[in-house]
Amino acid sequence: MAVFPKEFVWGAATAAYQIEGGAVEDGKGRSIWDVFSHTPGCTYRGETGDTACDSYHRWREDIELLKSMHLKAYRFSVAWTRIAPTGGTDWNEKGFAYYDGLVNTLLEAGIEPYITLYHWDLPQALEEKGGWQNEDTARAFAVYTAKMAEHFKGRVHQWFTFNEPACIVKMGYGTGEHAPGLKLPLEGQFTCWQNIIYAHCLAAQELRHTDAENRVGFVSTGRICYPVSEAKADVDAARALTFACPDEDWAFTHTMSLDPLCLGRWPGPDLCGPHLSACIGAVPQYINDALSLGRPDMLGLNIYNAAPVQMGTNGPCYVERPAGYAHTAMNWPVEPESLNWGPRYIQERYGLPMFIAENGLSCTDKIYLDGKVHDVERIDFLARYLEKLSEGIQAGADVRGYFHWSLLDNYEWHSGYRERFGLVYVDYASGRRIPKDSAFWYGEVAATNGGSI
Ligand code: NOJ
Repeated sequence: MAVFPKEFVWGAATAAYQIEGGAVEDGKGRSIWDVFSHTPGCTYRGETGDTACDSYHRWREDIELLKSMHLKAYRFSVAWTRIAPTGGTDWNEKGFAYYDGLVNTLLEAGIEPYITLYHWDLPQALEEKGGWQNEDTARAFAVYTAKMAEHFKGRVHQWFTFNEPACIVKMGYGTGEHAPGLKLPLEGQFTCWQNIIYAHCLAAQELRHTDAENRVGFVSTGRICYPVSEAKADVDAARALTFACPDEDWAFTHTMSLDPLCLGRWPGPDLCGPHLSACIGAVPQYINDALSLGRPDMLGLNIYNAAPVQMGTNGPCYVERPAGYAHTAMNWPVEPESLNWGPRYIQERYGLPMFIAENGLSCTDKIYLDGKVHDVERIDFLARYLEKLSEGIQAGADVRGYFHWSLLDNYEWHSGYRERFGLVYVDYASGRRIPKDSAFWYGEVAATNGGSI
């Protein structure tokens, strides 16, 4: 049976570019995603977030949906380019007005806003000056954060600065699959990484300075491994591979952001490959000096799956999954143990309160003949994952809440609208929302604090 702490926070998550639309409305500036998605060949069928779920106009419906599911928290991101169209101090009142409406209505509904300040949509004007390769972007982010903190003072207390540096850097500046679509060598990617870490540290200072009640979070993602047995050797092996940062796969790890931010030091050569270690050795002193400012009050973890690991004769090794293993529509393996072992390992290493900031799956959802969306796969997935999360909490992981990704089907970046991650189905032609069976199921979970699982 799943058991959750009394004050456990049940919520859902979204991100601005993936749901808002209104790409050029009310003075909004262009972000790197506006530019990238309009560049031929960059996204599936050339799809863009121009309209997306039209939440720029339909946000009241979104809040009604959250209410109907008894959710007490909503994690959404703010489009920097609505607030400051060119990433400077060119504040846009209409941008603030949009988020004022959202925040005030959430608060009236008893739903706490958890704001993500950066979910990948950098102002294009800043990209033209080097984007995350340029440390000035970190300073600009701190200015934007300070303005947001001041504006929402007393109304918003839960802040996540960045969402998934792994994807920002690796996919945006490494493989080029995401905006801005660059393919830099490791050194260039690492420069972006260190500037993001620096930006978080500066922003954390602004958030704390503006309101002592603000809680500063950072959302990371990365490899999670789980042991194939409870044997100590396997548990140690899975921990070792979870935190390792080999040169060929250094970015997709929690270690690379959480070690500097939570432990005040970068991972050492025991965890990192030689190329990465050389980059770490060259981090400017002013960034290392800033690390102590950045220790988060809470960690957001985006966990979707994990890899099975055991201790082999030559050390920790991955275990091949059997043929026909369960996969989601996006071909990600279904691995409920990720929500058990992930938070446990991260708890041991960093000792901070955690939120599952994202977890979910894409399914081939459709409207059935009866007009409903029967997403039995999502319900089964959720029940399995939440049971394992409960086990992890019983074992000592200090997880305070769970945000399902996502509230709505939405724009899945370079995959366009092909992947449906929502608890709520969106008919993109009309913008109409249809709660899937999982929305009703998850609503019961929230209402009973997991008792109904
Ligand atoms: C991670 C990202 O934060 C989110 O934007 C994305 O849609 C989901 N994972 C699913 O891929």
